[in-house]
Amino acid sequence: MAADLRSFIGELDEHGLLVRITKAVDPATEAGRLMRQLELRGVAGLFTNVNGADASLAYNLIGTRTALALALGVDPGDLRRRFRDAIDRRIEPTLVADAPSQELVRTGDEIDLRRLPLVTHSTGDAGPYITAGAVIARDPTTGARNISINRMMLAGAAETGIRMMPPQQLGLIQATAEAAGSDLPVAVAIGLHPVDTLAAGTSLPAGEDEFALAGGLRGEPVRLARAVSVDLDVPADAEIVIEGVIPAGVRAAEGPFGDFLEFYVPEMQNHRVRVTAVTHRRDPILQTMVAGSREDVNLLGLSREVDVVSALERVGTRVVDARVGPTILICAIAIDPRYPGEAKNAGLAALGAYPWLKYCIVVDGDVDVQSSDDVWWAIANRSSPERAVVVAHGAPAFPRDAHGVHGSRAIIDATIPFGASNHYERRVPPGGPALDLDDWLA
Ligand SMILES: Cc1cc2nc3c(=O)[nH]c(=O)nc-3n(C[C@H](O)[C@H](O)[C@H](O)COP(=O)(O)O)c2cc1C
Repeated sequence: MAADLRSFIGELDEHGLLVRITKAVDPATEAGRLMRQLELRGVAGLFTNVNGADASLAYNLIGTRTALALALGVDPGDLRRRFRDAIDRRIEPTLVADAPSQELVRTGDEIDLRRLPLVTHSTGDAGPYITAGAVIARDPTTGARNISINRMMLAGAAETGIRMMPPQQLGLIQATAEAAGSDLPVAVAIGLHPVDTLAAGTSLPAGEDEFALAGGLRGEPVRLARAVSVDLDVPADAEIVIEGVIPAGVRAAEGPFGDFLEFYVPEMQNHRVRVTAVTHRRDPILQTMVAGSREDVNLLGLSREVDVVSALERVGTRVVDARVGPTILICAIAIDPRYPGEAKNAGLAALGAYPWLKYCIVVDGDVDVQSSDDVWWAIANRSSPERAVVVAHGAPAFPRDAHGVHGSRAIIDATIPFGASNHYERRVPPGGPALDLDDWLA
């Protein structure tokens, strides 16, 4: 049996990382706020009674590094190595005939996306959205497959809006099809094992298949099946697959939507998906993700951390740990500096490796970069603002930036002044790390 969303939900449950919510919940007025509380508690949630829906709703599956590590079958400290191994050892997907994701097939008048437990995530959103769908498409000229995650606004029983932001590859592929006057067939897989979602959220060079990366992460091929209404292959083990076309030359109002920086993007004229079939398992589970949530940052941050750490290691920096977060515009790296000023050079390498990185904070190896409190401690107690901050004036980070908030980038060097570590050694309580309060409470 292939690893799928259900088997992962079972694993979360075994580890006490999942709660089941059986009480009725309204997807427009209640679910979003409850989801936020799940996120803050660091647990995943399975809502089995969503008003008006024929499916369950899963949220915050990989909202902690513990859960992400569980999905990848490693310790949290090995996440980057595991991801890097998968990049180097990809496994091509395989085509199968038996697809749980096609247990039930709905076409024509049977299609009704409004029966899905689609959540209104933020008060100012235009409506409910699909946010955890892996959108599969093929480049019409090269035939190469691309998979990405795109927000899709519910726009009727068999229609959604879709946001494709060039230079994102789906946008480029669609533009190629549209220039030739062709509609673009797409399939949207919802409810995948987190490793498949992680691969979908990774930006590989054009022509490289994210399913092969997912295979590398799984250690076995992703199982695909022929779609029922479009010329594409779809994940056989997904919970739900929406098939359709993006019609050439069609744009319609989409948004506003509370995006990953937690601001609203205004209504725009965006593309549409006309749905040709919905296939699903019996008692399907729809996954949703909130843009900018811990889960979103975990998902998009891991591959960026790999890029940053690889760049640092190439120049010989002794990297102890790194973390992109709590938003994907900021990163903290812990290093063991070898020479005066190395922290600043490490910051420059990190900024070079990841174009959206606005702030890179460099700390010593004894600081826990997984803890924002510890990073703030280092900034406050080990750095002098006039020496610590290096600003790259006029070097833009995130491109969508009407007011210049992301128009420059900075390094904060919060490492101990070189050679002065004896003055900045952290105090620790006596007794070794094996000494455990639980042994006293028992
Ligand atoms: C929850 C979530 C929502 C996203 N929404 C969008 C979106 O609406 N538009 C977009 O261009 N990218 C969006 N992304 C980012 C892309 O999926 C991601 O950058 C992907 O790697 C791009 O793939 P590509 O390199 O194949 O273009 C989203 C990511 C996540 C995790």
